[in-house]
Amino acid sequence: MDKQNRKAVIAGNWKMNKTATEAAELIDALIPAVKDADCEVVICVPFTDLVTAVEKTKGTNIHVGAENVHYEKSGAFTGEISADMLVDLGVEYVVVGHSERRQYFAETNETVNKRSRAALAAGLKPIICVGESLDQREQGVTEELVRMQVKIALNGMTAEELKNVIIAYEPIWAIGTGKTATAEQAEEVCAAIRKVVGELYGEEAAKALTVQYGGSMNAKNAEELLSKPDVDGGLIGGASLKADQFAVIVDAATKG
Ligand code: 13P
Repeated sequence: MDKQNRKAVIAGNWKMNKTATEAAELIDALIPAVKDADCEVVICVPFTDLVTAVEKTKGTNIHVGAENVHYEKSGAFTGEISADMLVDLGVEYVVVGHSERRQYFAETNETVNKRSRAALAAGLKPIICVGESLDQREQGVTEELVRMQVKIALNGMTAEELKNVIIAYEPIWAIGTGKTATAEQAEEVCAAIRKVVGELYGEEAAKALTVQYGGSMNAKNAEELLSKPDVDGGLIGGASLKADQFAVIVDAATKG
């Protein structure tokens, strides 16, 4: 399976932005803007926007994701949300292991693995984020680090489960900085991710895997990034908060 046959997925990660009222407005603008998309369109929104997002996008081509999920089914975990709670609302995707959660909320490769497996067991599709810091890139350990993040995140997952997994390569130095990885840098690491998945699950599984790039992807640079053979989509922060910009990226995925 080559790029043409893989599912391109453009996902917005709204982060901690938009009240439910603001979310409704943005979704109203998004629905007509992306209705002809030839790729999977996903919006990952704050927990408080999920009900609005699921209701508003019913009958459209927009899929809804959460931004995190707890790994236990239920219990004394004040402030946390379980996979079953998300599924019951009609949520399909969930971002797991975003670097902001690794950096500010003590997320580790092990908890990324637990969250991803809990998400899969409940029927959610995890978008697992990996990526290096600027120091790590300058130290020349990007590939080793990303390989390790991927291996631990996927630990114990079956080949069948892998079919519902997306991996997003998000170099930390490119997130929210306006400093995008070059298309060559994005391709190099996305290809390395596919390679390690091939080592773990075989060539066919690796070829079927959707690998996204994320980090200051915008209306201007999306087409070049998405034209690369191993970049199957994008995880978009800032530019996903503007319907017109997000729509340009969705169109770029169709061309790429
Ligand atoms: P920006 O697109 O704002 O750089 O954020 C990328 C990101 O972190 C998506 O998860």
